[in-house]
Amino acid sequence: MLNQIKDLHKQIKEISAASAQQAEELRIKYLGQKGIVKHLFDQFKQLSKEEKKSIGAPLNILKKEVQEKIEALKQQFESHTNVSSSASKDLTLPGSDSFKGSIHPIWATKQQICEIFSKMGFCLSEGPEVEDDWHNFTALNFPEHHPARDMQDTFFVDNNKGYSLRTHTSSVQVRVMENQKPPIKTISPGRVYRNEAISARSHCFFHQIEGLYIDEKVSFASLKQTLLTFAQEFFGAETKIRLRPSYFPFTEPSAEMDVSCFICKQEGCNICKYSGWVEILGCGMVDPNVLSNCGIDSETYSGYAFGMGIERMTMLKYQINDIRLFYENDQRFLSQFKTL
Ligand code: PHE
Repeated sequence: MLNQIKDLHKQIKEISAASAQQAEELRIKYLGQKGIVKHLFDQFKQLSKEEKKSIGAPLNILKKEVQEKIEALKQQFESHTNVSSSASKDLTLPGSDSFKGSIHPIWATKQQICEIFSKMGFCLSEGPEVEDDWHNFTALNFPEHHPARDMQDTFFVDNNKGYSLRTHTSSVQVRVMENQKPPIKTISPGRVYRNEAISARSHCFFHQIEGLYIDEKVSFASLKQTLLTFAQEFFGAETKIRLRPSYFPFTEPSAEMDVSCFICKQEGCNICKYSGWVEILGCGMVDPNVLSNCGIDSETYSGYAFGMGIERMTMLKYQINDIRLFYENDQRFLSQFKTL
C-alpha cells in the first residue's frame, strides 16, 4: 500500500487539465465517492493496528496534496473564465464620463488679476476677515459719523463696535504700512462683508482686490499708467480708461475708473447702459493722514491705492447678470467655466 501511495504521489504532481470540465473529471477520479483516494481509505480500514500506524500519516498527506492540486487546477479555469467573459465585452463602447471639477470663476478672475499685477512688481499680502475698528476705519481716516460705521452697513461682531467683519480690503493696506518700510508695492485680495440686502446686483459678502504703492515721488500719472496697463491686459489691448473725480476717506484726490465698453466697442449696449463706458474701480493718492497714522513720513513718501470688486470684474467679463450665481454652487453654472 505504501508503494501505491508513492506512485500516486508522483502521478498527482504530473496531472494537468486543459479545461474546467477535465479538472472536474480529475476531481471525481481522485476524490469522488468511488475515487482512488476513497478506495485507499477503504483499504486502510482493513489494515492491522501496526500497519495503520505506518500508513496513516503518508495517506493523509497524499489526500491533502490531491485536494490542493485539484483546487489549483479548478482555479486556473475560474480566472480564465473571467478573462474570457470580459474579453467578450465591447471595448469600443464609450465609457461613462467621470465628473471633473473646475476652478470657480471668482478664483480664476482673482488669479488673473494677481498675475497681471505681479508682472508689474506687486507682491501679495493678506489680512484677517474679522478686523478691529482701527484697521478697518480709524487709520483709514473714516470720520466718526461716517455711514460705514453704522450697523446698517457693517456687520459688527461685538456690541461695542470694536470688531467687525472687514468691509473692504483697505484694512490690509494699513497692516502692511504698519509693518513694512517703503517702498511698498502690494496687492491684497480677499473676502469682504457689507450689511446689504441680497439681490442680483449686490450680496452681503463679496471679494475685493486692493493695490497699494508707496515710495518717494509716486505720482497720479504713475497710478493712471498702471491702471491703463491692467485694463488693457484684462479686457483687451484696445481698451481705453477714463478717471472721474470721486471721494474716499483714505485717498486724496480720489477717482473712479471706467473702461471703454469691451462688449459693444462703445457703440452702445445694455452693459454700458448706452454710455460706452463701464465703471470698474475706485482709486486715488493715499491721504497723508493715513500715511502718518501708519507711521510713514508723509513729507518724504507718497503713494497710490486702488480697489475693485472681483465679482464685478467676473460679471463684466463673462456677462453674468446675477451675483448670486457665484455662491449657489449650481453645477449647470459652474461647469461652464471648465476651460478657465
Ligand atoms: N476700499 C474702496 C471700496 O471698498 C475701494 C478703494 C480702494 C478706493 C483704494 C480707493 C482706493 O470701495
